Amino acid sequence: MSETPTAAGEFVRVCTLDDLELGVPAQADVDGTLIALVRTAEREVRAVNDTCTHGQVSLSEGDVEGCEIECWLHGSRFDLVTGAPSGPPATVPIAVYPVTLEGDDVLVAVPAG
Ligand code: FES
Repeated sequence: MSETPTAAGEFVRVCTLDDLELGVPAQADVDGTLIALVRTAEREVRAVNDTCTHGQVSLSEGDVEGCEIECWLHGSRFDLVTGAPSGPPATVPIAVYPVTLEGDDVLVAVPAG
C-alpha cells in the first residue's frame, strides 16, 4: 500500500505492523493530532482523525467492522477510506490520512494544523 502525501503533510513513522491487531483500532499522536489507526488487512492500514464529529470522543475506543469504524458513544459509523459518515447520528465526515508502509513500519502523513 502506498499513497502520495498531502501537500502539507510529511510521512511520519508511527508504529510497526506488529503493533496493530487486525480490526482493532489504536490511537496515535502525530505532531499533536490524535489519529485512529486500523489494520484492515495483513499489509493495509487506514488512518483517520480520532475524534468523532458528533461529539468529542475517541473513535479508537470504538469497534471496527469491515472498513467502517463505529463510535462507542452513539453508534455513528464512518468509512475508513473516505471518512464519510455511513450511519447516524454524525453527518460530518472525519479526516482521513495517507498511510504508507516501509517494510513493517507504518508511516502516516497528517497535514499541519
Ligand atoms: S459522539 Fe460519536 S456518535 Fe455521538
